[in-house]
Amino acid sequence: MALERRKFVGTFIHSKSLTDLEICEEATIGVDEHGKIAYITRPGPDKAPDGWDSVHTIKLEGNKFFFPGFIDTHIHASQYPNAGVFGKSTLLDWLNTYTFPLESSFSDTAIASKVYNRVVARTLSQGTTTACYYATTHVPATNLLADICLKRGQRAFVGRVCMDRMSPEYYQDESTESAIADTRSCISHIRSIDPSFDLISPVITPRFAPSCHTATLAALGALQKETNLPVQTHISENTSEIALVAELFPEADSYAHVYDTAGLLTPKTILAHAVHLSPTERQLIKSRDAKISHCPASNTAITSGRAKVRELLDEGLTIGLGTDVSGGHTSSMLSEAREALFVSRHVAMTDGDEAKLAVEEALYLATRGGAKVVGLESKIGGFEMGMDWDAQVVGLGDTVGTDEIDQSEGLLEIFGKETWEEKVAKWVYTGDDRNTLAVWVKGRLVHKRNGFTI
Ligand code: GUN
Ligand code: FE
Repeated sequence: MALERRKFVGTFIHSKSLTDLEICEEATIGVDEHGKIAYITRPGPDKAPDGWDSVHTIKLEGNKFFFPGFIDTHIHASQYPNAGVFGKSTLLDWLNTYTFPLESSFSDTAIASKVYNRVVARTLSQGTTTACYYATTHVPATNLLADICLKRGQRAFVGRVCMDRMSPEYYQDESTESAIADTRSCISHIRSIDPSFDLISPVITPRFAPSCHTATLAALGALQKETNLPVQTHISENTSEIALVAELFPEADSYAHVYDTAGLLTPKTILAHAVHLSPTERQLIKSRDAKISHCPASNTAITSGRAKVRELLDEGLTIGLGTDVSGGHTSSMLSEAREALFVSRHVAMTDGDEAKLAVEEALYLATRGGAKVVGLESKIGGFEMGMDWDAQVVGLGDTVGTDEIDQSEGLLEIFGKETWEEKVAKWVYTGDDRNTLAVWVKGRLVHKRNGFTI
C-alpha cells in the first residue's frame, strides 16, 4: 500500500554503537511512499533533495524526540493474560501451574482473538515495532496472531510452538510428524498473507529441548535447512532445567550441544535467556553466530538467575532484549531496558562495577542489538538512509496536555538546563507508555496517544 511522503523534523536520538547514542537536534528525515528513509539532513551543509519542499511535515518541539521503535526479541503472546501472575514459582513448576493450562485454552480461537488483539495493540502503544512471538501449538490461533500483526501493522516473527514430550497430555504434539506438519501449515499461511515477508515471518519454534524428542529437534533442524527460516527457543534459563536436559540427553556434551546436534544452532537462531551457559557453550554459540535474547525481568521474576551480559558482550555475542511475557511481568521494552540496567547492577554488587550497563547500552540492546538478533539490522533499529521508518515519538514532562500529572522530565530546568542525556536517562528510569506519543512501522502510523496531534 503506497503511503504519502512525509518529513519528520526535530530532535532524533538513536544508537550509533553500543556506547554511543547520537542526539541530533533540528534534523529532518524524509520518508518515502514505501515507508523508507529517503534522506536525512542534520544542521550544517546537508541539503534536502529536490521535490520535498511541500511534503507534509511532522514537526516536534520542546522535550519531544524521535527514537527507533523497540524490538522485543522474545515474547509469548499467548501468556499475556498471566502477566504479573507467577507467585513464588520457578521455571518448571511455573510452566505446569500457570503456563500450560493457559496456553492450552488457545484451541478456542475466540479466546486467541481477544488475547492477541490486546497484546499487539498494547505492545505497539509501548513503542514495540517488532516482536518475536511464541504463540501456542494451535495452528488456527497461531495463524490468527500473524493475521492480527499484519492488520495492526506490527512487524513480527510468529512461531507455532512445538512440544511432544514432558508436557501435559492435554497440551502436546502427538508426534514428530504432526509437529512438523502443523509447523509447515503455519509457514504456508504466513507466506500466503505476506508473500515477500514484508512485515511477518514464520519462525521455527521448538519450545525448549526438554519438551521435544530428539527426532523432533532433528526434524525441525532439517526444516530450518530446507526453508532458511529463523529459529527461536530457550536455553540455559534455570538450573533444574539444565539438569533435566542432562538427564534427557545423556549423550550430549551440553545444553547448547543438544541444539547444535539437531542443526538448530544457526546464524538465524534466537536463544532466550542464556543465563547459565558454560564458556564452552558460549564459544559454540558464538562459532555458529547464533543470537541471544536477554530477558532480565523474567530471570528475576521466576528467579532463574542473573545473566552476565557484560561478559557475553565482551565475548562478542550478539544480544537483544526480550520481555518474555509472562515469565516476565512486563510487556514494555522500556521497562525491560530498565530491568537490564538493574540486573547488571546486581551483578556488579558481586563482580565489580565493570558489569554495570549504561543507559545508552540498554537502549542499544532494545533497538540495534535486537535488530541484529532478528537479522534485520540493515532495515530497522536506527535512523539511516534506506532503512524502514520504524519509529516512535517520545514526549517528556508535559506531553499531551492538561489532563494528566506530568512526569519529572524538564523539572531540572528550574535549576538551569536539563541536558538531553539527563532527559533520556529520566525516560529510561522513570518513563512509561504515557511518554510514547506516536508509533510508526514501515512508515505507517500504528499508534497515536489521545490528545497528541500530528
Ligand atoms: N521454557 C520453556 N517454555 C518456556 C516459557 O514459556 N517461558 C520461559 N520463560 N521459559 C520456557
Ligand atoms: Fe520464554
